[in-house]
Amino acid sequence: MSLKLSVVIPTFHEVRNLEAVARAVEMALRTQQIAYEVIFVDDDSRDGSEALAAQLADSLPVRMIVRHGEKGLSTAVLHGIAEARGEIVVVMDADLSHPAERIPDMVTRLESGKNDFVVGSRYVTGGSLDPSWNWFRRLNSKVATWLALPLARIRDPMSGFFAFRRADMPEAHRLSPIGYKIGLELLVKGEFKKPGEVPIHFADRVHGESKLSWKEQVRYLRHLRRLYQYRFPFLAEFLQFGIVGVSGFAVDVLLYLGLQSLTGMGHLMARALSFWGAASWNWVWNRVLTFSNRQKTRKLVQWPSFLLTSLIGFAINVGSYYVLTHYVPFFESHKITALAIGVLLGFGFNFITARLLVFIPYEAELLEEERRPRRR
Ligand code: GDD
Ligand code: MN
Repeated sequence: MSLKLSVVIPTFHEVRNLEAVARAVEMALRTQQIAYEVIFVDDDSRDGSEALAAQLADSLPVRMIVRHGEKGLSTAVLHGIAEARGEIVVVMDADLSHPAERIPDMVTRLESGKNDFVVGSRYVTGGSLDPSWNWFRRLNSKVATWLALPLARIRDPMSGFFAFRRADMPEAHRLSPIGYKIGLELLVKGEFKKPGEVPIHFADRVHGESKLSWKEQVRYLRHLRRLYQYRFPFLAEFLQFGIVGVSGFAVDVLLYLGLQSLTGMGHLMARALSFWGAASWNWVWNRVLTFSNRQKTRKLVQWPSFLLTSLIGFAINVGSYYVLTHYVPFFESHKITALAIGVLLGFGFNFITARLLVFIPYEAELLEEERRPRRR
């Protein structure tokens, strides 16, 4: 009989939950007569998990892969999926937070073609959170979820409980598994067209503790930035360039005021100098943030060329203001509008030259190379 389902369960210090989760899966699937395997992927917990898994394997279709020297939830999940033999893959936590009895529903949705990616969701009708979650944890989870909504057309894109057909698995080299949200990563990179959700009650773990740390949350923000860059490359660049530009304006004003009060220099001199400081600030942040996936052009080449294009942009900004207010009667009485138009033209010029001339894109094959997962 061909194997219908592989249940991938990443584990780290979960010896006290292993048996319960294996039995819960068995209960849920045996009654439905779904042929399955459980693959635990353990990162060398050394808490007796390995021995226990071997013992469970006597009576249940489970096995454990132990990784040595490599750690991390996302890579553990990918490792498990690579070993899976089932037609469908389900990923779930070991700590009994995810109700195994929802798996058959997930399978049905995939088989009927209703969905091509299914998550166990806390945030659809019928879903719920453990009542012990305090307001801070709920808010934290909500905010993290909202940030991801434009990337995925589901309500709980953060869920670690999800299922899809193994044939739909995106190629490994397209994935950058940083952090915790491997489900979101797969959903976005796999270009799934019909994602869907089954409601779950998310129970708090009884044994052991969560490994989700603050560091993990910062990593999540970096992960989100990458996914936005992948999904909406132009918009992501535009927004980041804009944010950097606004911060650069603040630097400009601070330098302008600071130079005058600290050195007593005249305002025109301060204005001329602050421009270079602000433009250099913009260059640094655009290099590390906005255009982080562009060629690493030598700094001594890129910095002056960014300054030069900024200067031209500035000239366009001020020049268009001058022309509008001097030659177009309408703007004589609408000077602020002229100023805004000047700013937009200058910004547009800077943005276009930055993305085409200063921060040069990789050739296609180099880009693929860049996206290949890197070892942490
Ligand atoms: N192999 C391996 N390596 N497994 C890990 C690692 C690791 O480095 N870190 C965590 N795990 C396993 C845990 O043993 C558990 O089975 C599962 O991954 C989830 O870890 P928890 O520490 O229980 O995470 P959580 O409860 O804070 O977060 C869960 O809920 C989130 C939504 O609130 C996860 O399911 C997240 O993916 C989910 O976003
Ligand atoms: Mn948990």
